[in-house]
Amino acid sequence: MGLRSLRHLFFCALLSSTLFIAACKPGIYLKNQGDILAIASMQTIVDDDFIHMAMDPKQIELGKLLFFDKIMSGNENISCSTCHHPMTFSTDNLSLPIGQGGAGLGPARRVVLDGETPVRERMPRNAPDLFNRGMKSFKTLFHDGRLSTDYSQSNHFRNPAGDALPEGFSHALEAQTIFPLTNPTEMAGHAGQNAIADCADAGDFTCLWGEVVDRLRQNSVYVDLFKDAYGLDDGAEISIVHVGKSLAAFISASFRADRSPFDQYLRGDESAMSHKAKKGMELFYGKASCVNCHSGVLQTDQSFHAIAMPQIGPGPGGDGYQGHDDFGRERATGDQADRYKFRTPSLRNVELTGPYGHDGAYESLEDVVRHHLNPGISLANYNLDQAFLPDAGPDLNLIDQIVLDDFLSKASLIVANELQPVDLSEEEIQCLLAFLRSLTDSNSMHLGHLIPGSVPSGLPIAD
Ligand code: HEC
Ligand code: HEC
Repeated sequence: MGLRSLRHLFFCALLSSTLFIAACKPGIYLKNQGDILAIASMQTIVDDDFIHMAMDPKQIELGKLLFFDKIMSGNENISCSTCHHPMTFSTDNLSLPIGQGGAGLGPARRVVLDGETPVRERMPRNAPDLFNRGMKSFKTLFHDGRLSTDYSQSNHFRNPAGDALPEGFSHALEAQTIFPLTNPTEMAGHAGQNAIADCADAGDFTCLWGEVVDRLRQNSVYVDLFKDAYGLDDGAEISIVHVGKSLAAFISASFRADRSPFDQYLRGDESAMSHKAKKGMELFYGKASCVNCHSGVLQTDQSFHAIAMPQIGPGPGGDGYQGHDDFGRERATGDQADRYKFRTPSLRNVELTGPYGHDGAYESLEDVVRHHLNPGISLANYNLDQAFLPDAGPDLNLIDQIVLDDFLSKASLIVANELQPVDLSEEEIQCLLAFLRSLTDSNSMHLGHLIPGSVPSGLPIAD
């Protein structure tokens, strides 16, 4: 390269960095003082916001063992931790999880198509992270919100099992944790493989939870732990409510993330966030309108919106004329106006918890942010390489693509879309990303200490 072109390069770099600094200058994009006030008036997260603070440490410890123990799955081949592992930031870092029958952990997990309990399909939705789900403000869980606190129900929850959900749960998270056990692809296994799977196949939740508890009652270590944690006289008193409460206590205590630079900034440490991140924060809660849905200290309105997220994978079943679409919130409410709406995710630790969207359509954080800026173009240009899907053999791979290739489905996604395109400069997008990275609690990057040395069943935990 000649001196001249080198100089030219240097000049361009200088120019762009000057522009960049100008674009990130504090205050220049503030629409009004209200944006700053919205940030300044935000409540910081405190101990009392979490359900585990009122729980016995023995319940948390018991929950940890249950979380890592494959005894909880029908074929004893998968645990909660497989898809919500501390080393992969309480998710699995795959677009779509590989449930019972798969092998390996995190991005290395793979589909196994032979043997006695082969994988039959990918899971239809991305495994959400579990950060701060123990906060009392999380009253609605799952991407489509099909479990939510509702005091008009006798058991206090609108939920997939209806009245079969036992009474006694105090928070949505406690009730949620017993549902992964009931899904054949996820943990239960398929009819004929085990007693739990047979109950699942019959759609009998009471029978299924009874089978899980029976297994635990046959393990004397668990019996002692339950007796101790809940003051029971006898193993016969163990119920699925104790199981759910313990799992929730562990999740709440372990996946707490409220020490990010953003939190420290809200607590008064102005220097905790970089200049660029502060600029991004102003854009987020201001001009870029992210706040319309990602509001408040957790960056979520805990509500549902349609944002034309590309649809990949097998789908949860029965949606669209090929059966592989995902109608989202409509599945829970039955209201067609809710089609393609998904819960606004909290953005805590978002840098760590990809791939993104209810189906993990985007592996990269920048890609999913760019999707928001122009959903129509992003959907039109989308291809499966933007996701992270380990090979699942030709038959299952083919299914991943079906809805994407369907023009009609894409058109309906666009019609339902609520996101207005936002015009941001490249520099502004980088500021926005810097803000999203300032939501990372560095403690969440070191969660290896949560992994127990062994579990009462003696089943392996390191795979
Ligand atoms: C095979 C992977 C897999 C396993 C195993 C698994 N999960 Fe999940 N988990 C998921 C997926 C996928 C979702 C989202 C499902 C949906 O929204 O339809 C989810 C959702 C959740 C949620 C709701 C989070 C939110 O914000 O809505 C919680 C809590 C949770 N799982 C806890 C658990 C617990 C506890 C266990 C063990 C009993 C478990 N999971 C086992 C994949 C898994
Ligand atoms: C109209 C409501 C709405 C607005 C405005 C909005 N989002 Fe979102 N956002 C959502 C919903 C809903 C999802 C989840 C979609 C899904 O699961 O398919 C989402 C997902 C995301 C994700 C992926 C998180 C994850 O864990 O999967 C990121 C990052 C994100 N939004 C950032 C932003 C940014 C930055 C802005 C502003 C430029 C913004 N959003 C504006 C509703 C909105």
